[in-house]
Amino acid sequence: MAKDPCAGLDVYRVGGAVRDAHLGWPVKDTDWVVVGATPEEMRQRGFRPVGRDFPVFLHPQTQEEYALARTERKSGHGYTGFVVYASPDVTLEEDLVRRDLTINAMAESMDGTLVDPFGGMVDLEARILRHVSPAFVEDPLRVLRTARFLARYAGLGFSVAASTMTLMSELAESGELSHLVAERVWAETERALSEPCPEQYFRTLDSCGALKVLMPELYEHEGLEPRLKRMHALPEALKDVASWRWGRLLETLSESQRADLGQRLRMPRAYRELIEQLAYTRQLANGGADTAQSIMTWMESVDAWRRGERVGPLLSVLALDHPELSASVGAAWQAASSLAPRELVEEGFSGSELGRELARRRLAAISRSL
Ligand code: CTP
Repeated sequence: MAKDPCAGLDVYRVGGAVRDAHLGWPVKDTDWVVVGATPEEMRQRGFRPVGRDFPVFLHPQTQEEYALARTERKSGHGYTGFVVYASPDVTLEEDLVRRDLTINAMAESMDGTLVDPFGGMVDLEARILRHVSPAFVEDPLRVLRTARFLARYAGLGFSVAASTMTLMSELAESGELSHLVAERVWAETERALSEPCPEQYFRTLDSCGALKVLMPELYEHEGLEPRLKRMHALPEALKDVASWRWGRLLETLSESQRADLGQRLRMPRAYRELIEQLAYTRQLANGGADTAQSIMTWMESVDAWRRGERVGPLLSVLALDHPELSASVGAAWQAASSLAPRELVEEGFSGSELGRELARRRLAAISRSL
C-alpha cells in the first residue's frame, strides 16, 4: 500500500470546513494547515505546489489544499500588497490569529481535537461574526466577506459584532476599499447574490458605509430599500437566481449608470444583458399602454425572435407587479412567434423585403391577439 503522505505531519483541518461542520451546514471543501514542515519536505511527500507566491500544496490523492502555517503582513495596497511568511517555526496559533473571523479561526487535529484560541466556538454558538484581531483590517475584502457570511447565515440567527462593525466602518472611511481589484469585489458580490439572504449583504455594506464607496449607483433615484424589496420578490422557478437578483436591484438605473457600474465591477456579459432586458421590461410596464407597437418594440429589444427562451422568465417577473400586462404580452408572443420566416420564403419573399414583411405580419398578429 502507498505510504500516507500525511503520516507524521502536524496537520489540522481549518477554516470554513470546521465552521460549517459545527454549524450543520454542508461542507464544500476542506482546507488544511501543516505546522513545522518545509516546502521541500512537502514535495518529497508527493504534494504538488500550487501558485508561486503562497506556500500551498495539493494532496497527491485527495487534491485538497494543504497550506504551510504562515503569517502575512501588508506591504501595500490591494491583492498583491502582502508579504507571506511561512516557515517551520510559525505556530498554529500564529497562523489562526491572522484570519478574518473567530468562527473561521478554529482548527481541528486529525483525531478531532478542536484548537480554538480565539473563542470561535462561543461565537459560533452565540451566532456572532466577530473579527479575530486588529489584523482584520489588513485585507479590506474582509468587509465584503463578513457581509457575505451574514447573507449566508442570517437565517441561523447570526449578526455582526458591534466592534467588528466599527472596524468595517473605519475601513470604509479610510479609502482602502477603493484599492480592491474589481474581480474580488465582483466575486464576493456574486457569491452573496446566491446566498439565502442576499439583502443582508447589501444592508451590512450600507450600514458600514462600504456600499456608497463600492456601488454608489444603488442610492440613485429610489434609494436602497425599494431595490432590496424587488430583489427579494422573485418567482421561485427562475434559474441563475444570482443574475436575476442583481438585475432586479439595478433595473431602474439609467443607461449611463448601468454602464459605469458594469465597467467598474467588470461585470460579466450575461449579468449586463439581463439588466438591460429587465430595464426594457420595466419601460414596457411604465409605458402604460399595451399597444401592439410597444409590445413589438419590447420583443425586438430583448432579442426575443432569436432568444425565445428569454421571454417566459421575463414575463414571470413582469407578472409580479403587472399580471394582466404579462398575460397579454404572453398571448402576443404566442401569436407572433408562431409565424415562421420559412413560410414567407415559400411565398417568394427574400432579402430586406422578407424582413419587412415578417415584421409587418408579426405586428398584425400581436394586434389581433390583444
Ligand atoms: N481567510 C481570511 N481572510 C480572507 C480570506 C480567507 O482570514 N480574506 C481565511 C479564513 O480563515 C477562511 C479561510 O481563510 O476560513 C479559507 O478561506 P475561503 O476558502 O475563502 O473561505 P471559507 O471560510 O472556506 O468560506 P466559504 O465557505 O465561503 O468558501
